Amino acid sequence: MTHARQHTIQVVAHRGASEDAPEHTLAAYVKAIEDGADALECDVRLTADGHLVCVHGRRVNRTSNGRGAVSTLELADLAALDFGSWKDSHESPDWSDREYTSVLTLERLLELVADAGRRVELAVETKHPTRWAGQVEERLVRLLRRFGLADPPTPAESAVRIMSFSPRSLQRAAAAVPTVPTVYLTQFVAPRLREGRLPAGARIAGPSIRIIRNHPAYVERLHEAGLQVHVWTVDAPEDVDLCVRLGVDAIITNRPKQVLSQLGRT
Ligand code: G3P
Ligand code: CA
Repeated sequence: MTHARQHTIQVVAHRGASEDAPEHTLAAYVKAIEDGADALECDVRLTADGHLVCVHGRRVNRTSNGRGAVSTLELADLAALDFGSWKDSHESPDWSDREYTSVLTLERLLELVADAGRRVELAVETKHPTRWAGQVEERLVRLLRRFGLADPPTPAESAVRIMSFSPRSLQRAAAAVPTVPTVYLTQFVAPRLREGRLPAGARIAGPSIRIIRNHPAYVERLHEAGLQVHVWTVDAPEDVDLCVRLGVDAIITNRPKQVLSQLGRT
């Protein structure tokens, strides 16, 4: 039998409040903070001129009015694009301000978090880290240092964590910033997950909600192994209920406002 743990489940805004506002834009993150999210999730990719930008896809085609791979475009190319108009329905704190739907750099997102006026954590996912042979993690760590986030006394005190599907990327991150927690993302049931183990360098399990629906007992197994469990992407109310019953540690959702309300936190 599974015993839910007594703790507050962290609500993480996936790509910002991305159900209401265009994902990975300032509009989506400002809304997530206003909605009361505990943490913000973002994907990061390197531009051709070495800037970390918050974009999910390898190419910008789906979420902007431009075309091409982020890795072949410079920041100035991306800055000329509109990352908001692809989404037809949206809520925005200030839709008229162009910055709200421009490409978002990780640096700008870190500034937003620093100015939030309350503790807002950041879960940064490294995308396509193998192509760049360590450069994504290197730039990320440099930015974390600049914002005073690279050396928390303990992982539990860290306001940032680094997530990836790539064990190699997590290893690099763990070597550079050992007290910043790392999250191993999985969408398939890897044997080690079944056994409550993670790859070297990873501290937190990040299974998809589909894994948890099919194998709810894994949560207890991972907890018994001393690991936190952060589940993505949890939008359906019945999935939120499942996560609550199982006592997961973080729910990563496109709908932070609705999830907080379901959890009785608004
Ligand atoms: O939070 C983890 C989740 O974002 C991983 O999948 O494709 O949405 O980046 P994806
Ligand atoms: Ca992601």
